Amino acid sequence: MNFNSFNPPVRTLMGPGPAEIHPRVLAAMARPAIGHLDPAFLQMMDEIKHLLQYAFQTKNALTIPISAPASAGMETCVVNLVEPGEKVIVCVNGLFGGRMKENIERAGGIPVTIENRWGEPVDPNKLEDTVKRHRDVRLVTFVHAETSTGVLSDAKTLVDVAHHYDCLAIVDAVTSLGGSPLKVDEWGIDAIFSGSQKCLSCTPGLSPLSLADRAVEKIKRRRDKIQSWFLDLNLLMGYWGTKLRSYHHTAPVNTLYGLHEALVMLREEGLEKAWARHWHLHGALRSGLEAMGLSFLVKENKRLPQLNVIHVPPGVDEAILRRRLLDEYNLDIGAGLGALAGKVIRIGLMGHGANMKNVMYCLEALEAVLFDMRAPIQTGVAMNAAQSAAILN
Ligand SMILES: Cc1ncc(COP(=O)(O)O)c(C=O)c1O
Repeated sequence: MNFNSFNPPVRTLMGPGPAEIHPRVLAAMARPAIGHLDPAFLQMMDEIKHLLQYAFQTKNALTIPISAPASAGMETCVVNLVEPGEKVIVCVNGLFGGRMKENIERAGGIPVTIENRWGEPVDPNKLEDTVKRHRDVRLVTFVHAETSTGVLSDAKTLVDVAHHYDCLAIVDAVTSLGGSPLKVDEWGIDAIFSGSQKCLSCTPGLSPLSLADRAVEKIKRRRDKIQSWFLDLNLLMGYWGTKLRSYHHTAPVNTLYGLHEALVMLREEGLEKAWARHWHLHGALRSGLEAMGLSFLVKENKRLPQLNVIHVPPGVDEAILRRRLLDEYNLDIGAGLGALAGKVIRIGLMGHGANMKNVMYCLEALEAVLFDMRAPIQTGVAMNAAQSAAILN
């Protein structure tokens, strides 16, 4: 067998992530590696912490990236904050809420699940009813931006409910960070994790995370050993802390160069402008899709701008549609997950990929393939609608 260098096809990434990586991030990652305890590297780690505090809008001292994908950020929050035998309220409104439940069970916790319909946000009233019935609970978890359905939940209200009943809130912000308003300190979020590969336009493989002092105190009060050595925040704090840095693991040096660059870029653009850009481009894409006759799964005021979930038109095989977009247009969009498999497609407008060129390209490709598949759509109107919306908004 002959092995050659791998040269991936050039795709337009408009799925649920990984999103397109900015060339500046790729260039930063190609810089020479240095030792992970080199003083220059340690200084860059400090800058990453400051830049993440900006991205999360927090002053939390424990704000670091975990050297693994966002699933590890979720697991870090769970194994550190959930004690064996502890009851935890888990709000589920899609696939990732379900993952949180699974993590809690594996950590020895006892999940009390609140089911919400897929495609709808987490209901604060249901949360309140449940905490009222379980007064011994001290932890609540929910997903801010549910990537499986394209729904944004009202994090501030949910955290307020949790705090009112003396609970800490763990929040999954994998798809929201950098794309939708997120204010960790103002909203009082106790523990939050995200991913590098979505609205930050970095490579997959890092999970930014931030814990408020209240959450850190809960970890410090624990008498038992955190079940995961690698994700034990007591040990990670020694590596990322401000005092003498000690070896914990070999940080992914070049990947962290990439995250640093992505965060510098976010800072240059400004968070509010980044949120507004995602919203603006969602408006253009939405107008084009709706002009074509396509409809959204999620109600207008609950939608994520960075992840547009669209019903597959009747008679169209969703897998064939996505395959043709990939083969004929090099356009990568996402499939429906779980209960929505085969019924919806997911179009991402994340980070660097949230631009007008991608909006127009996606509409053009989608229209051409759907028309060819004899889907009942309006042709010749989507591009104009998108352009008008972009100008008007
Ligand atoms: C909301 C949410 N949580 C968790 C994850 C897991 O992230 P990763 O695939 O980086 O482990 C994802 C990934 O898409 C996600 O969208």
